[in-house]
Parts: sequence; C-alpha cells; structure tokens
Amino acid sequence: MKKVLFIYYSQTEQTHKAIHSLRKNFSTDVEITEFRIKPDESFPFPWKFTSFFRQFPKCICRRPPKLKPIPKEIFKKDYDLVVIGYQIWFLSPSLPTLALFENPEFSSFLKNKSVLGVITGRNMWISGVKTMNQLIIGCGASKIRNIALTDTSPEWATFITTPRWMLTGRKNAFWFFPEAGIPEKEYLILEEFGKTLDQNEYSLDGISTAQVSHKQSFAALLMEKTGICFFIPWANLIERLSPEDSLLRDLLLVGFRVNLILLILLLLPITGLFAAITRPLVATKLNGYYKGLLEAK
Ligand SMILES: Cc1cc2nc3c(=O)[nH]c(=O)nc-3n(C[C@H](O)[C@H](O)[C@H](O)COP(=O)(O)O)c2cc1C
Repeated sequence: MKKVLFIYYSQTEQTHKAIHSLRKNFSTDVEITEFRIKPDESFPFPWKFTSFFRQFPKCICRRPPKLKPIPKEIFKKDYDLVVIGYQIWFLSPSLPTLALFENPEFSSFLKNKSVLGVITGRNMWISGVKTMNQLIIGCGASKIRNIALTDTSPEWATFITTPRWMLTGRKNAFWFFPEAGIPEKEYLILEEFGKTLDQNEYSLDGISTAQVSHKQSFAALLMEKTGICFFIPWANLIERLSPEDSLLRDLLLVGFRVNLILLILLLLPITGLFAAITRPLVATKLNGYYKGLLEAK
C-alpha cells in the first residue's frame, strides 16, 4: 500500500482547505497520515496590528518559534510522498513552517523523499517558495514539486482586502472591492491534481506542476523582486537595533510601514506599465523561471 504524509500549518484555514482538496480524490487504498503543526506561541486571528508587523523581521531573518512536539511515529514510516502545506508571510515561508526545519528529526526524515509543496498566499509566493526549495534541497529530498494557490483578484485590490481580512477577520466584498481569499475554483484545480497524483501512484515522476499552478503576473513578480530588496535591509536593521517586542522595535516598524506603503503606491503603476510593455518579450523566459521554481528538482 502506498503511503502519503500531509504535514502543514494553517492559521486562517486556507492551507488546511487546500490539503483537503488535494486528498479528496485519493483512492481508498492509500495510507494517509495527516499532521497539523502547532507553534508553542499561538498566533491569534484576527491579528492585532502591532503583532502582525512584529512577525516581519522574524520571517525575513528566519527566527521561528518553537513547535509543539511532533509524534515520533510520524517520521518512522517510509512514505512514497510527503506533502508540505504552507503559506507565505512577508515574502517568506510562515514562521511555523520555518520552525519545522529547526527540528533535526524532520530535516533528516526528508532525505531521499519526494516532496510536494502546497502553497497558499495572497499573490506573492516566489521568494517564499525559493527559500523553501533551498531548505528542502538542503535536507536531501530526491524530488520537489510545488503548486501555489492564491487570491486571483486584481493586485491593487488584494493590497487592501487581504490586510483588512487579516486585521479584522472580515473577508466579505465591500464598496468596489472583491471578497478576500482564495476562490473556490482554485481549490478545484487541486482536486483534479489529486486525481492525477492518484493515477500516477503518488509518484512525482513525470508530473508537471508548472502547468497547473498559479503563476504570478509579471507585474507582481517585479513588485516582489523590488520588495525583497528593501525587506532584507529593513529586517536586518530592526533585528540588530531593537530587542524583541520593545518600543524601539515598534517605532522602527512604523518606519518600515511608511516605507512599505510608499513603495506599493509607487511600484503598482510603474511595474504595471513596465510589465504591459515588456510582457511579450519576456513571456518564454518567464515560463522557464516559474518552471524552475515549481519543479525545482
Ligand atoms: C503575517 C502575514 C503576512 C503575509 N504576507 C504575505 C506575502 O508576503 N505574500 C502573500 O502572497 N501572502 C501573504 N499573506 C497572506 C497569506 O499567505 C495567506 O492568507 C495564506 O493563505 C494564509 O494561510 P492559512 O489560511 O493556511 O493560514 C500574509 C499573511 C500574514 C498573516
């Protein structure tokens, strides 16, 4: 009997739903183990404004919290496929996801495993997936495929609707803004992909995720690439200059937020225009770039 492990974190349930969509069409003769990781430090939802931004330097500088213990039996089975479900926080894998890799048992368990990453996010997952690919490859995984699900509303709208949802818990459509979150049709793609995996007997050989995964628009990619260039120095500065949860840190985070808002306002029109002009010239290169991230090994 084939064996599949699902290991994931979820705060607002999108990743949990993605995992369940993927396994919905798995046949009955596969042994499934599902484990939802829990950090020692809870991340209450909806977020408090200060607490939300306090995660930023920790995500970028990779300072995750400790996790509640993972039962040892989980790592003893010889799985045909390991599915890691995670989400993006501040262009990085979320802190609980990063915490998994602090566990030496998990890291050595991934050696020679086929790993499928199921990623959920607003619309900017490239840097986070790149980091995760490096971590998974560093553990010696034999194969890596990734599939990303995102909010498919226009970029400008999600810059309002996602933070509103995170900070108030409200994801409904309002004024001229659409509902926040991953739409139902994205989960259906995962259900179909689950069928393909089942037919392939849970092997990633010959499986292309680049064809089915969401790909960022060229404009979002340009925004993310610019964004990460200023996220890294800000995060390092904040980590170096201020103790955790201090007033000084909160003041520096005010500076970061002002810079972030200005950057978004500046980059949205510029990257949109630049992407519209150059898209035909870079289309083939872009496909290759996404393939490299989504089918990393
Ligand atoms: C602190 C925080 C930062 C986030 N940063 C990003 C980001 O940089 N890029 C992105 O695409 N989504 C970002 N998001 C949105 C989440 O990735 C998205 O809502 C995800 O699906 C949440 O997963 P969950 O429902 O399983 O908890 C962020 C969410 C939070 C809470």
